Order: sequence, then C-alpha cells, then structure tokens
Amino acid sequence: MKGIYLDYAATTPVHPDVVLAMQPYLNIKFGNPSSMYQLGVSNRKTINESKKTIAQCLNVLQEEIYFTSGGTEATNWAIKGYAEAHPEKKEIIISQIEHHATLNTCKYLEKKGYKIHSIPVDKKGFISLKKLESAMNDNTLMVSIIWANNEIGTIQDMKAISDICHKHDVVLHTDAVQAFGQISVDLSEVNVDMLTLSAHKFYGPKGIGCLYIKKGIVIESLIHGGSQEQGKRAGTEYLSGIVGMAKAAEIASQYQQVYYEKLNYLSTRLHQRLIQNFDCIFNGPEIGGRRLPGNINISFKDIIGTQLSYWLDQNDIYVSTGSACDSTSIEPSHVIKALKVPEEYMRGTIRFSLGNEFLESDIPRVIAKLKDGLDFIQ
Ligand SMILES: Cc1ncc(COP(=O)(O)O)c(C=O)c1O
Repeated sequence: MKGIYLDYAATTPVHPDVVLAMQPYLNIKFGNPSSMYQLGVSNRKTINESKKTIAQCLNVLQEEIYFTSGGTEATNWAIKGYAEAHPEKKEIIISQIEHHATLNTCKYLEKKGYKIHSIPVDKKGFISLKKLESAMNDNTLMVSIIWANNEIGTIQDMKAISDICHKHDVVLHTDAVQAFGQISVDLSEVNVDMLTLSAHKFYGPKGIGCLYIKKGIVIESLIHGGSQEQGKRAGTEYLSGIVGMAKAAEIASQYQQVYYEKLNYLSTRLHQRLIQNFDCIFNGPEIGGRRLPGNINISFKDIIGTQLSYWLDQNDIYVSTGSACDSTSIEPSHVIKALKVPEEYMRGTIRFSLGNEFLESDIPRVIAKLKDGLDFIQ
C-alpha cells in the first residue's frame, strides 16, 4: 500500500502467518466439520483446538468459547440472549460511550420495554463507579461496559467494575474488541461473565469473532438450526476464519507487551508533533496511562473532521473521524459529545489509530499533509 494507514481500530490487515494457517482450509481441508468421515472429523478437531488456543489466551475453559460472525453478533447475543433467558429482570446498565453494537442492541430492547441506564463518563471517558453502583437494583438484568473504547482509547477499570457487579450479584458482559491484543485481557484476573472478541481487530480475518460465556451463565440462542457450537449457535462454521482467528490470537497474546510498547512509543512521538504544530484538543486519557497505546484522538478548532479526513484520503493518508460504522457523518459522535468537548472543536475530531506497518519515519509526512489539509479546508 503506497499510503499511510492510520485506521487500525477500524480493521487490521491479516498477518502473513495467519494467511498461511488459513489457506489449507479453503480448498484442501475443506470438509464440513459436522460430516462423519475423516475430512469432516479432522476439521471438528481443528475447531476444538482453535477454541483451546483462544481459551488459553483469555485464561478460560475451551468449552466457554463460542464462535460468531464477529463482534457485533457476539454482543447482540450476549445482551439479547441473556435478556431472553432471564425475562424477570428488565433493567440494563451500559456506559455513555459504548460501541453501536451495544448501544443499538439496547435501543432495540428499550422499545421492547427494557429500561436502559447509561452511566456518564468524565472528561477522559472513565465511567463513574459510584453511579454504576447506584444504578443497580433488584430489577437489574445485567451490565455491559466496553473494556477499551474504540474512539478515544479509554481503558475502563474492568476489575473494579467486575467487583461491583459481583458484589450485587449482577452479570457483567464486556466488549473487549479493541482491548484484546493491545492490553492484557486475562480473565483469571478480571472476573467477567461474558466477553466479546473480533478477529479483524488483531490481524485476523473479518467475519469471525467469539463470545466467551462463563460456565453456568445461561443465555438463549439467537440463531437456530443445526447443533454447532454446543447447540447454542447454529450454522456451518467459518472454518478458515476460525483457524485464522486462533492463529491471530496466539500471535497477539505472545507479542502483546512488545506491541504495547511499540505503539506507545509511536503514539508519544506523533502526539508531540501534533501538539507542537496545531491548535487542537487531545481527547481521552494521557498516553501511557489507561489508554489504548495505538489510539490518538484530537479535535481541531472550527473545522469539519470529515472534510479533513476526505482531503487526507486524497493524499493517501487514511484516518477516521469516529468509529468506522458512522464515519460519513458530520455530527460529532456520541463519544465526543459525552466528553463535553467544547462546541467549536467537536466537529473537528480525527482519530489516528496506529498499528504494525506504521513507522516513525511516516510522522513528518502526516504532519505536513495535515498542515496542507487544514490550510486547504479552512
Ligand atoms: C469496540 C467495538 N465493538 C464491536 C465492534 C464490532 O465488531 P465487528 O466488526 O466484528 O462486528 C467493533 C468494530 O468496529 C468495535 O470497535
């Protein structure tokens, strides 16, 4: 790619070792894992081994991993599936800065009569633990809080959140789509009941993810049909995707600390140059603190972020204004609004998300193009 890609939070390229691991399952080892002959049976074993690999990365049991079509399905399933299995409780607690997978699932349930409590965040995107606890009552069905935010990189104190939930006997789901690979996601240390992952955010293929469901947690199925995924999620498995996800998870876990340090270093450098050169506000926690190492989110004064990102695209630099799902909107995202960014900066928000192929030597070009772009659109 000739350009400079700075949108790894939207998606990542598939790691070459992941491509190699996937290839045989597309044409040679192509059997349906539910078939009774060798070509199928050996693929069933491969699926179980893939589950084991992912389970080891999270420090959970193999049978607690269920493959889905990605993060959106896993989160839909966690929330709607748990709601359907426990119809006696009708209140759900989320944060103001959830991904649309959670937000719109809850909006859907709201129309069905559920009450949704949206816990406010402070200026850096941290939820108020006090408000979380005080929102709980006998009618609370569950809590769903994003572990690390996709727009501003805020890493919630998931251990403290989980302690509060379990003190009140409330089930906790977390969207760990952005967290996994960048920070430690070890469920022997942080006690969550359900957790969502998506492979394409950590150099795996698109269209595959999983939901971790702790043993003993009962949820209804969303997709009915065959008996795949322990009878809980029907449909012939995306075999090559599953193999790819497991390989990507293995690599991500093995190199997580190295990746964290590399991205933190690059973010620090890019951030310094941005602050030196532009009148902008830096959104979210400080770099090196409780922030995803690859995330930089800034707001420029009196501009429209989508115009700048379009101009940058014409100049081979790829950034985003918010999450990939609504990047064409000129309205500030719900996340930026929740931070109460001053009005004159709100619409000028740009997210840079760094990853493997980004180089320190790319920084001068990014800064120069940003200057040209701002001159052009202002
Ligand atoms: C935090 C977060 N949750 C969920 C998703 C949805 O995952 P998927 O693209 O696999 O459906 C994304 C992807 O943008 C995300 O960033």
